[in-house]
Amino acid sequence: MAGFIIVGAQWGDEGKGKITDMLCEDFDYVVRFQGGNNAGHTVVFEGRTLKLHLIPSGIMYPDIVPVIGNGCVVDPPVLLSEMDMLEKQNISCERLVISTNTHLIMPWHRDLDGASEHRLGANEIGTTRRGIGPAYQDKASRLGLRMQDLFDRSILREKIASALEEKNDLLTKVYGLAPYTVDEVADEYLAYGERLRSHVTEISPLLNVALDRGDWVLFEGAQGTLLDIDHGTYPFVTSSNPTAGGACVGAGVGPTRMDRVLGIAKAYLTRVGSGPFPTELSDETGARLIEVGGEYGTTTGRQRRAGWYDAPVVKYAVEVNGLTDLAITKLDVLSCCETIKVCVAYEHRGKRYTTVPGHQSAFHHAAPIYEELPGWKVDISGCRRFEDLPAEARDYLGYLEELAGVPVSIIAVGPSREQTILRDWPQR
Ligand code: GDP
Ligand code: IMO
Ligand code: MG
Repeated sequence: MAGFIIVGAQWGDEGKGKITDMLCEDFDYVVRFQGGNNAGHTVVFEGRTLKLHLIPSGIMYPDIVPVIGNGCVVDPPVLLSEMDMLEKQNISCERLVISTNTHLIMPWHRDLDGASEHRLGANEIGTTRRGIGPAYQDKASRLGLRMQDLFDRSILREKIASALEEKNDLLTKVYGLAPYTVDEVADEYLAYGERLRSHVTEISPLLNVALDRGDWVLFEGAQGTLLDIDHGTYPFVTSSNPTAGGACVGAGVGPTRMDRVLGIAKAYLTRVGSGPFPTELSDETGARLIEVGGEYGTTTGRQRRAGWYDAPVVKYAVEVNGLTDLAITKLDVLSCCETIKVCVAYEHRGKRYTTVPGHQSAFHHAAPIYEELPGWKVDISGCRRFEDLPAEARDYLGYLEELAGVPVSIIAVGPSREQTILRDWPQR
């Protein structure tokens, strides 16, 4: 068995793309199992920077098979333009495989995402407006279109017609937007189908046979644990399951095939969009983390909210995902801090919480309780071994390890592939 899962242990943008890319050298398959082009994964290698939204990080290794799982939602023109962008950079997408069951983001999903956010006004979720929520909504309502529907004109027309019967009413009568015509959409999507046809196949048998053979398969999560629709800060979440269980559902592979579950966490914390964030800093320190960490969204360009590392959040991610290991990224960014705070618990109405409170109101109003540690104030981006790090940085990692209860096996000290310290990770 060699199934490995990577998940975000916070609110997304933890550096999953960087770690996935760095580990992919040893893998035969890399699988995205949920989410869509709401994700933005930045990969820096050989002096190049790639921003990926749908295609698994790892595509740049010539021998790996990148897979888009049934748990994802795919916007076909967005996927095709990402493939074109990669081909232009001499990165082949020929091996890309897409599940026959992957649901499609249709143009009305994009419209409805924007319109419903607009309607929520001050209560908006702050979605990426890529149509993610409405697409998953239709999947659950059994009104969705799937990859396999793109290859048969009459089935495609029938499904579009059935969806538009409801969507056109919603678009025109509720939101005052323009309707769609069945033929126009069908023609456009049949053309996308033609271009994608050779990539579409059943992925569950493909991955199970690969695992039987002893191949190494890496499941790359998008978003993060606290954005999970079941386990996150609902309703300020995405519409899929970025937690480890999502890897099984979203790729058709059983939990008994997984060897390790790696949670990625930033050495501090960020969040994009609305929702609770107890350790958020609205002061000069927060501004410095944003500036030094380059904390602007890969997908929407929005400035991320920033704050101190929240140990109860990561502890919660350890439990919900069954994490075996942690990767701590962006440790180099903390070199800008004289001292570093870590939230070890919260206080709400006289009660102390050491994990994420179950009730949303308690979490919204939770006051962080901090421990303060000395900073190291030196550039660590050139460190390649744990022993090269200053004592204060090693102590900081030791403290995070103690609070999480799992080992910090990987440490990132810069955006590029080689700016990584592997402490305890299997290599082939
Ligand atoms: P993802 O969505 O989890 O893949 O993360 P993003 O790519 O959206 O955001 C992480 C950002 O931090 C990207 O710009 C990465 O290039 C960058 N990054 C990743 N790891 C490190 C690190 O250890 N140090 C620094 N300075 N930047 C990093
Ligand atoms: P990666 O994979 C950070 C956030 C949005 C919004 C909420 C719902 O790069 O870590 P959606 O468009 O999914 O309906 O928006 O989720 N969000 C992310 N935040 N990183 C992401 O992906 C995100 N994908 C969605 O900002 O708050
Ligand atoms: Mg991102």
